[in-house]
Amino acid sequence: MKIVGTGSTLPERVLTNLELEKMVDTTDAWIVERTGIRERRIADEKTATSDLVADAIKKACDQASIKPAELDAIIVGTSTPDTIYPATACWVQKKLGIRGMAAFDVSAGCSGFLFALELGTNLVRTGRGRKVAVAGGEVMSKVVNWKDRATCVLFGDGAGAAVLVPSDDQSGPLAANWGCDGNLAPLLYQPAGGTRLPFSEQVLHDMSHTVRMEGNRVFKHAVRTMGDAAVKAIKDAGISIEQVKVIIPHQANLRIMEAVRARIGYPREQQFEVIHKYGNMSAATVPICLDEARRAGRIQDGDIVVMTAFGTGFTWAASVWRW
Ligand code: ACO
Repeated sequence: MKIVGTGSTLPERVLTNLELEKMVDTTDAWIVERTGIRERRIADEKTATSDLVADAIKKACDQASIKPAELDAIIVGTSTPDTIYPATACWVQKKLGIRGMAAFDVSAGCSGFLFALELGTNLVRTGRGRKVAVAGGEVMSKVVNWKDRATCVLFGDGAGAAVLVPSDDQSGPLAANWGCDGNLAPLLYQPAGGTRLPFSEQVLHDMSHTVRMEGNRVFKHAVRTMGDAAVKAIKDAGISIEQVKVIIPHQANLRIMEAVRARIGYPREQQFEVIHKYGNMSAATVPICLDEARRAGRIQDGDIVVMTAFGTGFTWAASVWRW
C-alpha cells in the first residue's frame, strides 16, 4: 500500500500574537513561552471546513495523477464540521462535483486524521477500496471564544489530505494503534449545539457553543497517551527510534511535544514542526505536516515516518509508515 499523493490548504489570513495582544489580555511573550505558537491562519467568513478539505484532496489527487471522481471513499477527520449533518465529506463531494463513492466523517478530535488513516488503510488492505482519500480539516476559529485568552490563542485553521492505493513494493503501514477514554470527555469539549444542550439564547449568552478545556489536565494526559501510542507502534513495527526518518506528533503545544520527545528519546531534528506558524489545527495538523515534510524533501521513498496524536474524547493514535 502506498500514499501516492498528499495535499494541504491554509487560509491566507495570518493572525499574529501581536494582534491577539489587542484582542485579549495576553502577550506575545506568554504565548511563545507557554505554547511555541507565533501566528496562526484564520478562515474568512465564507470559508467552511469542506472548502479547505476539498482543496487539500484535490491537490493530493493531482499529485497522484488521480481524478477525484475515481476515488472509492472519502474519509474526513474533523471536529468542526460544516453542519451537524450531513457529514463534511458529503459537502466535499458537492464542492468537487463528484458522487457515488462512500463519504463520511470521523469525529476523534485531533486524532481524527490518524483514525481516518487507519480506516482508509483497512479499506485498501481488504480490497474494499482501491483509491481512498483520507483527510483532516478544521475551522477552529469559528468554535473558539475570542474573549477567552486561555483558549483563543491556541488554535488555527487548515486542512490536509492523503491518497492511498494498493502497491506491490515494501511501502505501507508497519504498525498502528488507536484508543479512547471517554471518561475524560469533560476535559475538552464543546458543550452546546448537540442534543445534550441544543442552541438557545442561554447558550449564546454563556458562549457554551465554544471550546471548554481544562488545559493543565489535558496537558498531562496528552504527554502520556501520545508518547505511549508512539512507543507501542514503534515496538510493534519491530524498528528502533533511530531508524525513523521523521516523527510527526500532533502539535497542540510545543511543551507537550518536547515532553513527548523526552519520554520517547529522539533528537529535535527528527521531528517535523509547524506549530510556530499554524497553532493547533486539531485533525488538520498531522496531514499538513505530512504534506509539508514531503514537499520539503524530508520524506523520500523507503523512509520510515511515525505519526502520533491525542485529542478530545480523550482519543489517541499512532501510525508507522514506510514511504
Ligand atoms: N495570556 C496570558 N496569561 C494567560 C493566558 C494567555 N493567553 N492564558 C492563561 N493565562 C494565565 C492563567 O489565567 C493563569 O493565571 P493565574 O496563575 O493568575 O491563574 C496563568 O496564565 C497560568 O495558567 P495555566 O493554565 O496554568 O498555564 P499553562 O502553563 O498550563 O498553559 C495552556 C496553558 C497553554 C493552555 C496549557 O495548559 C496547554 O497547552 N494545555 C493543553 C492544551 C491542549 O493540548 N489542548 C488540546 C486541544 S486539541 C482538541 O482536541 C480540540
